[in-house]
Amino acid sequence: IPVDPFDLVIFGGTGDLAKRKILPALYRRFCAGQMPGDAKIIGAARSEHDAEEYRAFAHDAIQEFSDPQACSEAGLTAFLNRLDYVTIDARGEDGWAELADKLTERRVRAFYFSVGPGLFGDLAERIHSHGMVTDDTRIVVEKPFGHDLPTARELNKTLAAHFDEGQIYRIDHYLGKETVQNLMAVRFGNMLFEPLWNSQYVDHIQITVAETVGVGGRGEYYDKSGAMRDMVQNHLMQLLCLIAMEPPAKFDPDAVRDEKLKVIRALGEVLPHHIVRGQYEADPEGPQAHGSYRDAVGNPRSRTESYIALKTHIDNWRWAGTPFYLRTGKRLKARSSVINVMFKDTPHSIFGDEAGRHANVLSIRLQPNEGITLQVTIKEPGPGGMRLIDVPLDMTFSETLAPEDADFPDAYERLIMDVIRGNQTLFMRGDEVEAAWAWTDPIIAGWEARNDVPKPYDSGSAGPRDAELLIQRDKREWRGIT
Ligand code: BG6
Repeated sequence: IPVDPFDLVIFGGTGDLAKRKILPALYRRFCAGQMPGDAKIIGAARSEHDAEEYRAFAHDAIQEFSDPQACSEAGLTAFLNRLDYVTIDARGEDGWAELADKLTERRVRAFYFSVGPGLFGDLAERIHSHGMVTDDTRIVVEKPFGHDLPTARELNKTLAAHFDEGQIYRIDHYLGKETVQNLMAVRFGNMLFEPLWNSQYVDHIQITVAETVGVGGRGEYYDKSGAMRDMVQNHLMQLLCLIAMEPPAKFDPDAVRDEKLKVIRALGEVLPHHIVRGQYEADPEGPQAHGSYRDAVGNPRSRTESYIALKTHIDNWRWAGTPFYLRTGKRLKARSSVINVMFKDTPHSIFGDEAGRHANVLSIRLQPNEGITLQVTIKEPGPGGMRLIDVPLDMTFSETLAPEDADFPDAYERLIMDVIRGNQTLFMRGDEVEAAWAWTDPIIAGWEARNDVPKPYDSGSAGPRDAELLIQRDKREWRGIT
């Protein structure tokens, strides 16, 4: 179903995110017939370009980062014709009157702040002073939303001075991933799981987001952030919230976000020996021959982590006694994002110990190979007596669904369309982001005070050995990339 006509202004319109994600996502939605033919996309940036040059930029972005065949040649041209460009000075007055002139009356207006947070205040102020704010105006901001609690508060204050919370869309692209939304469908659309979804039946939960890529060209940003700020404070925290939250009364933005917030606020302290930080080593011989983390960020003495594993718990009635193990890292063995809900063993085996003891596992695979698998125990076929084995009840989407239904939109496609529709359910509220920082800040302060040095780990491995020990000490094992 097409969304209403809209004008979308992309500040930082010639930047990396616009090129890799925003423009390709808009293109695919246009080809899918979801973006109305009279929508306008206006790139805005400091560099001097005209609309033609911006279209050429978008054309290249689509060739490189999208499927150019998603539309016919005529469709591609029609999409490019929706693009316009304004040279703008975020900190001065140049370009603003021109931008205001280009906007259409009485339509949804979305301003995408695809720029560093240092410019949020300047942009917000000028959008206001140039009379561009209407009832249907929305702004979209990207992570990192602050560097810690004080800076996040400051950003929230800056935005709140110009916009209502209902107009602010803070993106965490993990919430736009198909399986992440499916996680809510599985939990709240089935009778089967809810009665078991608590510490009485769940032994522990593992959340893994493993990447094979390194820090790429983002060394300067990354070295000031590390895996905790870059991944745990936002993406892993969001996954944890969706897994652990109480059922919201409805699937509506504040009902969902209220429940997520309660989870973050109930997160327990993380003890120093429940955290393992790592940094990847060089791999000069491997297929993707590359230098070490320290080489990549150009800081031979860096103590920033490119890997983190930690154990935490949620201090509430439902989860008291069920540990949550989180891990994420770069340059690991495989790209694999998966949540494993590990159920407890049966209380007693009627088949005797030699039959083996087994536990159910619900695996929610975000990428690659999206799907959900429930591991169940059955009898090993054959005449060999009552021996038990584990088999997967498998809902790999590419096999279970028709091919056209298994071709999911990218997270950005979904999220940008939600902005236009005015649906904030999959966006973070200001208090959520602050609560997440309030949990991460003391953890980071702790290792800074201890002068903690991350453990080196081999590229292409499952991370530092200590991360194995972290979970093995509790007589458990990581599932997945190891
Ligand atoms: C980004 C992080 O938010 O998410 C990156 O800044 C990371 O460091 C990326 O690589 C992972 O996203 P995805 O969608 O590839 O899992």
